[in-house]
Amino acid sequence: MSSQSVIIECRDLDKVYKMGNQKVYALHDMDLDVHRGEYLSVMGPSGSGKSTLFNMIGALDKPSGGTVKIGGVDLTKQTSLQLAYFRNHHIGYIFQSFNLIMSLTALRNVMLPLQFAGYSNSDAEQRAAEVLTEVGLGDRLHHRPDELSGGQQQRVAIARGLAMEPTIMLADEPTANLDLHTGEDIINILRNLCDNHGVTVITATHDHKMLDKSDRILWIKDGTRDRLQKRSELDIRIGKVG
Ligand SMILES: Nc1ncnc2c1ncn2[C@@H]1O[C@H](COP(=O)(O)OP(=O)(O)OP(=O)(O)O)[C@@H](O)[C@H]1O
Ligand SMILES: [Mg+2]
Repeated sequence: MSSQSVIIECRDLDKVYKMGNQKVYALHDMDLDVHRGEYLSVMGPSGSGKSTLFNMIGALDKPSGGTVKIGGVDLTKQTSLQLAYFRNHHIGYIFQSFNLIMSLTALRNVMLPLQFAGYSNSDAEQRAAEVLTEVGLGDRLHHRPDELSGGQQQRVAIARGLAMEPTIMLADEPTANLDLHTGEDIINILRNLCDNHGVTVITATHDHKMLDKSDRILWIKDGTRDRLQKRSELDIRIGKVG
């Protein structure tokens, strides 16, 4: 399939929260096409709707209006069982807070989605060790999260997201808690996913270094699409991006 084929289509997407008598539009009339195998960064101030957009694309929450299609399938028309299967087989998630299970080793954390998908324990263990090695943690398989640094925990979260070979990787501020160098390593891992594995990567970020590795940047403001730029259209200067 061509690298320019569309994998994610959002049309007139709304997410409304009712707070007492007030309606809060976390997303409003959002239209977005994401191409297969591209790296898209979503930029916008705190509260602009980045995580909400991720929750819609990642089938973690339903929109109040509009549609999300992934590979032509309308997520808003799926049953919860179909959505659970879809999440497990097609989407990798990396959350800012890592969401690792603290009582389990790195290996066991990464085995979870594989076991959920029906892999035998030995197959899950083999695959989990493989992806942990890919992200540079081959010598930390049996450490629990509290025995790992923040950057290493983020790599475990990435390995868990990679384990099922997702079509789409959603990373919500994956470098927010990391130092400059570790953050760059994580960005390179994500870029490599696009270039060498054909994965579509979408990151929400406040990190300007991430923009330089993205194919396109979606700027959102108050839940609406402000602009969508190619990297070549970016004007990056110290202290200013526009
Ligand atoms: N469960 C909820 N109930 C009510 N309002 C919500 C809820 N979740 C999010 N919101 C509101 O929706 C808006 C968008 O929130 P969202 O988490 O998507 O922002 P964000 O761009 O990810 O911000 P940040 O950069 O701080 O993570 C915010 O104004 C927020 O207060
Ligand atoms: Mg957020």
